[in-house]
Amino acid sequence: MIDNEVLRNALATVTEPALGRDVVSANLVEIARDGEQVVVRYAPPSAALPHNGAVMELLRTAAATVANQPVRVELAPSAIAGSPSSPRIGCLLGVGAGKGGVGKSTVASNLAVTLAKAGCRVGLLDADIYGPSVPILMGLRGAKPAVNAARQIVPAVAHGVKTVSIGFMVQEDMAVAWRGPMVGKAVTQLLSDVDWGDLDYLLVDLPPGTGDVVLSLCQAAALDGAVVVSTPQDVAFADVLRAVRMFSMLKVDVVGLVENMAYFLCPDNGKTYEIFGPSNSERHCSSHDVPFLGRLPIELQVSPSADAGLPIVVAEPNSDLAVRYRALAADLALRVVRRKAGAAAQASLGQGFFTVHDYTPPAAS
Ligand SMILES: Nc1ncnc2c1ncn2[C@@H]1O[C@H](COP(=O)(O)OP(=O)(O)OP(=O)(O)O)[C@@H](O)[C@H]1O
Ligand SMILES: [Mg+2]
Repeated sequence: MIDNEVLRNALATVTEPALGRDVVSANLVEIARDGEQVVVRYAPPSAALPHNGAVMELLRTAAATVANQPVRVELAPSAIAGSPSSPRIGCLLGVGAGKGGVGKSTVASNLAVTLAKAGCRVGLLDADIYGPSVPILMGLRGAKPAVNAARQIVPAVAHGVKTVSIGFMVQEDMAVAWRGPMVGKAVTQLLSDVDWGDLDYLLVDLPPGTGDVVLSLCQAAALDGAVVVSTPQDVAFADVLRAVRMFSMLKVDVVGLVENMAYFLCPDNGKTYEIFGPSNSERHCSSHDVPFLGRLPIELQVSPSADAGLPIVVAEPNSDLAVRYRALAADLALRVVRRKAGAAAQASLGQGFFTVHDYTPPAAS
């Protein structure tokens, strides 16, 4: 029978790349017995990290070098630790944009579903007071959420995501003409009067360009970060900068920019067309110190499947777009864990263990 201490020392040679710490001192492994087998349970910092499989492989190899009996490495549930203001929500992320119609709700809902499919506990809060569209996108049109004994709203679950929308409370076609204080009250309630339970990620679909909602969210519970969505046009980048400035004024960390509808890959001839012109976002991002998360293509099925309540990652899980959403979710998870782990982890990165995802589209032809 292998000694636990010997096994622990062997496992301690494996580093979790996002944290930059060994898995034993970071408390990510547990050793158990199952008859003749030794079981190593690995709970990664986030289920959506791109390198979890590689870490498990390294654990298997490390254990095999010292064990004289069969070893099984299992994936255990992971949990992102919350902040003091919202201890049960691992990461509260806003999805915003400087202007409307760039795909915020589409990106927020597809990212939420992708993270849930990866095994994370995910919530989606539609805080777009002026045009809530999440009920339609998630197939929850007309849903009336239940209220629990503590008089909290119970989120509806769609595609594995706990979902709440201001659209559940007001009629879909009602033009909501609320002013700042009312907006603040409504948004705060959506956060605090909802029985979210324990979540790894709560994504918030923000209305375009306004500070009221973000300000209220930040007063209710600090936003851990914001993902900004844009389209390739230069004019759109001016809006991006406005959004970035708004977030930084409100002390919200901009995790990065996603360029949506960046190009169209024609299924008939395999050629790439940059319909909204060549992308300058990556260059603009680097000159303004905004991390560039990647490009998402135009996919003809996005709108019809959204109307049918099926995010594209569910309707067409093998499409180029769905593949990119998976890479984007993995990259986001990596950035969130790194940011949560702080500067110590940053310093130990770049040792060539994992490859940061690259979304460069095929060359335009
Ligand atoms: N990658 C894509 N490919 C094709 N269509 C897309 C893509 N992303 C978004 N769309 C479509 O673009 C339109 C706008 O998207 P969406 O509603 O998500 O934008 P928004 O920024 O949330 O808008 P609003 O400001 O009105 O809330 C929708 O019809 C959506 O289906
Ligand atoms: Mg929207």
